[in-house]
Amino acid sequence: MKNRFIAAAAMPAALVGAVNNGLARTPQMGWNNWNTFACDVSEKLLLETSKLLGDYGLKDLGYQYVVLDDCWSTGRGDDGYLVPDTAKFPEGMGAVADKLHKEGFLFGMYSSAGEMTCARYAGSLDYETQDAESFASWGVDYLKYDNCYHMGRMGTPLISFNRYNEMAKALKKTGRSILYSLCSWGEDYVHTWGGSIANSWRISGDIYDSFARPDDLCACNNAADPACVAPGTHCSVLAIINKVATFVDRGLPGAWNDLDMLEVGLGGMTEEEYKAHFAMWAALKSPLLLGNDLRKMDATTLSIINNPAIIAVSQDPKGRSAIRISRNLEAPIDEHGVGETQVWSGALANGDQVVIFLNAADEDVDMSATLSELFVMHGPGGSAPHVKQDWTVRDLWGNEGARMSKGVAQAVLDATSEGERNGILKRENWYNATATPYAEGLEQGDARLLGERVGTVKAGGRLEARVPRHAAKVFRLQSASGKTGTAKSSLKDEL
Ligand code: GAL
Repeated sequence: MKNRFIAAAAMPAALVGAVNNGLARTPQMGWNNWNTFACDVSEKLLLETSKLLGDYGLKDLGYQYVVLDDCWSTGRGDDGYLVPDTAKFPEGMGAVADKLHKEGFLFGMYSSAGEMTCARYAGSLDYETQDAESFASWGVDYLKYDNCYHMGRMGTPLISFNRYNEMAKALKKTGRSILYSLCSWGEDYVHTWGGSIANSWRISGDIYDSFARPDDLCACNNAADPACVAPGTHCSVLAIINKVATFVDRGLPGAWNDLDMLEVGLGGMTEEEYKAHFAMWAALKSPLLLGNDLRKMDATTLSIINNPAIIAVSQDPKGRSAIRISRNLEAPIDEHGVGETQVWSGALANGDQVVIFLNAADEDVDMSATLSELFVMHGPGGSAPHVKQDWTVRDLWGNEGARMSKGVAQAVLDATSEGERNGILKRENWYNATATPYAEGLEQGDARLLGERVGTVKAGGRLEARVPRHAAKVFRLQSASGKTGTAKSSLKDEL
């Protein structure tokens, strides 16, 4: 079978994502203030947060971008350039960038392709050149570019493309490497053109801290729905997953579907729901931007966001999203009328495969999928060579070789000195992607990235698991023969 994914991978890099700025070869990771702090921003908040990202070992797991969202300026000066709010950023934005860079972080900022930002601060529409110059002169590494107050310049893919392309060109002209992250909420089929000019593009209205509750403020469930004119601000994890499901294949190294910032640790979901949210964002290759208050983080939250076996799926060098191979809408429904289960499967580097059983039904469910279904992307009807071999199954939330225990996470949070904290992380032998990038760790078969071994699926067999209500089981399948030959031979088959 000819596979679009493989064909794309074989293309010269310059053709894959015309932005071609060498950034986000794996989905970007970091923190953004919006989900918790909205407009309550300051240099102090950014620096306190970055300090904790470093202290807790999160920077060394890949969370490197510290992104300031809306509400940072006082408007535009007479010279046409944006003026930072010195009550919030006393030494200006360049000083923030310098301080973050000194600690090994990258600095992200925000504006809107409109006359105003969504919180009604000055926007960049028709000031793209000046604003890109400012961002570059301040040492900014990342721009989140929103969609509010676009003055009617939307309605067809081309109109939106042109509006967003102005900033792409202006950023490029500065000569500085700036990751370009579109936030047009899926409007005007951004997934069909975003990859030509940007490193990521939001595909939905704003996420809110709910696993599955439908809300009229997130009415756009289907990207192709012509009536979808207000993507909204109350999109659940499940609504976003269901929206992106039909075009997950648009994500490629350097250019990703953005499922919005993480809600893990904000308090509106259960632990199992947050684990499912985090794992789905990783497997669907969304950027992983934390949205919680790190100064008040609990052990449960830390032990979700610092799971290297899940992050390794996100940062896998193959750079392909898992795809949904089945969906069951007959599952028991909750009081909102929501109830479904889904099976997702995706190819990883070295011939491995990630499989997710997602249970959004109102009770625990026994779920299963045959190898023939799980490897359908390599050939339908059981024709994939992968079906004819045995697979070792590893649980990526297992306690061995994956998730940090809550006791240890609490000790990391409670440590009173850097030495004590580093000591704990060292004793636990916690993964450090600064020292060993994920691609290298995976190539070496580093056990910390592979999860806990829980069983085998024999050739022609079926993977089965009981999945609690509102939870996901996340597995890495590895060839039981220990060879990665399967992947290579199938790749040949497909080309
Ligand atoms: C929304 C955007 C949010 C946040 C907010 C700021 O449009 O989707 O992520 O940036 O604006 O006002």
